[in-house]
Amino acid sequence: MTIVPGSASQALAAALVRETGADLATPTYDRFPDGETLAAVPGFDDDRATVVAATPSNDALVELLQLQDAVREAGASEVTTVLPYMGYARQDRAFEAGHPVSARAVARAISPGTDRVVLVTPHEAAVGDFFDVPVDVVDAADVLAGPLPDDLTDPLFLSPDAGAVALAETVRDAYGRGTVDHFEKTRHSGTEVTIEPSDADADGRDVVIVDDIIATGSTMSEAVAALGDRGAARVFAACVHPLLARNARTKLESAGIERVVGTDTLERDVSAVSVAPVVADVL
Ligand code: R5P
Repeated sequence: MTIVPGSASQALAAALVRETGADLATPTYDRFPDGETLAAVPGFDDDRATVVAATPSNDALVELLQLQDAVREAGASEVTTVLPYMGYARQDRAFEAGHPVSARAVARAISPGTDRVVLVTPHEAAVGDFFDVPVDVVDAADVLAGPLPDDLTDPLFLSPDAGAVALAETVRDAYGRGTVDHFEKTRHSGTEVTIEPSDADADGRDVVIVDDIIATGSTMSEAVAALGDRGAARVFAACVHPLLARNARTKLESAGIERVVGTDTLERDVSAVSVAPVVADVL
């Protein structure tokens, strides 16, 4: 098997090579003068290709399609596509009349170029049903416990809404101690949310807020602020996908976050832990 990295997933691809002993292709990522991308895999020569490519941008998505096509063109008979982070996955329904189901459209674009897909902690596991090929949905939340300090005081693992409670439980279980609770979130727009604190006792405790993704940082920064009002000691933000769009990093800092911990599904300065062992298990 040869692992073929997308440009946004080079560190994860390298970690997967170390984990699996697979070969590593060296793609090139170029751009034509009109702006079109050209991702290529010079010298590719294997029957089995595993393309590992997060798609946080439209260019990254096209690059993924090109890598799939390039390995087929070079003779690969079996192609696996690992989507560490699948862009558009949160658009999993038509929010208004006339809107697309964008996650389905993206899944349909990716499916013809691959024999199977590995999807890491999508917002909803049902996104996997949009693909026309077999999908392994893997949850990488447990690796988030690794970078947390060992000395958390009476830790509270908190999700910003009920939907992420299972993630908070997974991280608490991997950490080995602590209680789990959740806030109630109402989203007003792409960047505005309000958080209703629960009656969880945060006074004097270290709190780890766990979510699948930090995008604009609105959810996390509102939760951090609510915890400050409730006397929390240190507040950590842990997410599988540290997208950190726009001014998310600054919003979190201003809110008083102790540390942001993410994985390498998106390669950022906060990507403190790799999902490679979890992905390698299904390759
Ligand atoms: C939504 O329910 C997700 O789990 C995240 O809470 C959300 O997408 C985070 O987005 P943002 O960082 O923009 O608030």
